Amino acid sequence: MLIASFSQRSLENACALWDEGQVVAIPTETVYGLAGDATNDKAITTIYSVKNRPVFNPLIIHCHSLSQAKRYAEFSLRAERVANAFWPGPLTLVLKRRMGCEISLLASAGLDTLALRIPAHPIALDLLRAYEIPLAAPSANLSNTISPTRAQDVYASLGERVPLILDGGDTSVGVESTILDLSGEEPVLLRPGGLALEVIEKQIGEKVLHYKGDEIKAPGMTKRHYAPEAKVKLNMTVKQNKQGEVLLGFGAVVGDLSLSLSGNLEEAAANLFRMLRDLDQPGIHTISIAPIPNHGLGLAINDRLRRAAAD
Ligand code: TXA
Ligand code: MG
Repeated sequence: MLIASFSQRSLENACALWDEGQVVAIPTETVYGLAGDATNDKAITTIYSVKNRPVFNPLIIHCHSLSQAKRYAEFSLRAERVANAFWPGPLTLVLKRRMGCEISLLASAGLDTLALRIPAHPIALDLLRAYEIPLAAPSANLSNTISPTRAQDVYASLGERVPLILDGGDTSVGVESTILDLSGEEPVLLRPGGLALEVIEKQIGEKVLHYKGDEIKAPGMTKRHYAPEAKVKLNMTVKQNKQGEVLLGFGAVVGDLSLSLSGNLEEAAANLFRMLRDLDQPGIHTISIAPIPNHGLGLAINDRLRRAAAD
């Protein structure tokens, strides 16, 4: 069976596959990741090819502890404070690579920086501790499709391209990690995600700049990304009464499904990708989506929805 529940045996299978430079899909608290040995060029090449991902789009490196992460990247005082406050958790830090860092240069697309995080998922942490070498892991889906929040989503997207999918149930956060660039003078948000910006700003006592460059520096910085097959229409409060249209509600806007009836943004983020997948069925040409407030996790939800709606 390709999808395996987590046990000592499946942990050993995963480590054996990583030793051979192969990839394994693993649960994290955000989305499922397609993980490979971050120090092995062959594994990194496999990750890019399994996902059909352009090689100029670098990967996130997963560690089990701050002391492990420090072997590979330079932590400023600010970075250390942020890491201590939010790791393990849905936050990725972009930091300068250390001299002699063994992480494959292919994994960071030749940049002199590294994107690092410690996932807050017991299975991911057990695997990282058992394997000891950091794991590079982008979301476990084909490039430009909706990220997987369940083991069966990984299978639906990648099928037999992955030799092993470890099932950890539904992910709890449901959107990818927030990416914060701390490699320069000022903290810069590269991607809104599962940790709210307000929470980070409060902790560090500074405003975080929003990345505005035109080069691709973070994910889905290509305009269309996270895209379902159906057309996505934003800020809709009613259906236009056409066949083949579904409404995804939020709060007072009651739809065919609701991201959160009580208007809770954490709940909405956790439901977002699963509901988009469930609504994206043959015969459905339009998914209309209720307005989502643009604060807290709403920033990440609206970011993903804008990309899903782009032509
Ligand atoms: O929640 C997550 O972050 C998930 C789980 C599996 O950990 N991973 C994930 O990976 O979303 P991915 O590959 O879909 O997004 C990683 C993004 C890349 O698109 C890239 O732009 C950015 O991280 N990134 C990686 N290394 C970078 C670097 N050195 N500088 C700037 N951005 C970087
Ligand atoms: Mg992705």
